[in-house]
Amino acid sequence: MSVSKEFLYGLPKAELHLHLEGTLEPELKLRLAQKNGIDIGQTTIEQVKESYQFDSLTSFLAVYYPAMNVLQDEDDFCDLAVDYLQKAKAHNVKHCELFFDPQAHTSRGVPFETVINGYYKGIEKGREMGIDAHLIMCFLRDMTADCALKTYQKALPYRDKILGIGLDSDERDNPPMKFAQVFEMAKKDGFHVTMHCDIDQQDSIGHIRDVLYKIGVERIDHGTNIVEDPSLVDYVLAHKIGFTCCPVSNSFVTSDMKGREMTYLLQRGAKITVNSDDPAYFQSYISDDYYALATKYNLSKEDMIQIAKNSFEVSWISDEAKRKYIRMIDEYAASVE
Ligand code: ADE
Ligand code: ZN
Repeated sequence: MSVSKEFLYGLPKAELHLHLEGTLEPELKLRLAQKNGIDIGQTTIEQVKESYQFDSLTSFLAVYYPAMNVLQDEDDFCDLAVDYLQKAKAHNVKHCELFFDPQAHTSRGVPFETVINGYYKGIEKGREMGIDAHLIMCFLRDMTADCALKTYQKALPYRDKILGIGLDSDERDNPPMKFAQVFEMAKKDGFHVTMHCDIDQQDSIGHIRDVLYKIGVERIDHGTNIVEDPSLVDYVLAHKIGFTCCPVSNSFVTSDMKGREMTYLLQRGAKITVNSDDPAYFQSYISDDYYALATKYNLSKEDMIQIAKNSFEVSWISDEAKRKYIRMIDEYAASVE
């Protein structure tokens, strides 16, 4: 029997791969453009949506970055976070670890403190709504390693507001080892670490090997090309490395959801999780991603429950909190049988 959308919406879950900048819905974009007097070249929701023309990571990013110009002051960053957290609540997200890209803002003159203070205010409001939200600061891999180091130094006074460090943006010609030094520092300083290994990149498997063996990440964002090397699959099974997969995002920037790879890894016992990546652009929030994957690949209720449990297991919370959330999933599953 196929699993219902209602069941997946109500399933308690953690979201671990979500770019706050990727939650900028057309409505908020237009409101902030007007408030801040910024000409974005579009005045209606339809026009904004028409501009969403992409079929690869590179073409997606070309639409994604210019949109961020509308984010100017602390309130704008706070509103963006709160809008997302309200939606997350409707999807029964209990815990989330959210990416943000400070360099996408500092590079256009917005101070680092505006970005972090604004987002953190939103995070605090989320906690008042009952969502345990945290921030992961990502470096843009298409900027220099030196710029990443300078951004890291700027972030250190705010370290109590940042749970982990990540790496995103265009992977082409920007391998993980370009950022080895700053990730080494972050690990020494006690940050959690994760990195994007986007789908079907040039030398995807080499990048995955380096993030596992040389950088030493705790999770990989995307990363399903790992199926090409059985020895790496054995390694992630042994080390319980999490994968933050984003099926609907994959279907936009590559030719499919990569659900076969996810299903294979799940069946091998890998810690596969499902997430929404940039939901405003792919028009799919987390439960929609769960549903899309389950229906297209005929996954069972038990598979989806396992994915939700994985999301807490590979999150960066205490063991006690993990047990609490996993119990919550079991109680939910029992109550709707
Ligand atoms: N920034 C926002 N979404 C991204 C993705 N899927 N890959 C890399 N960088 C991103
Ligand atoms: Zn991503």
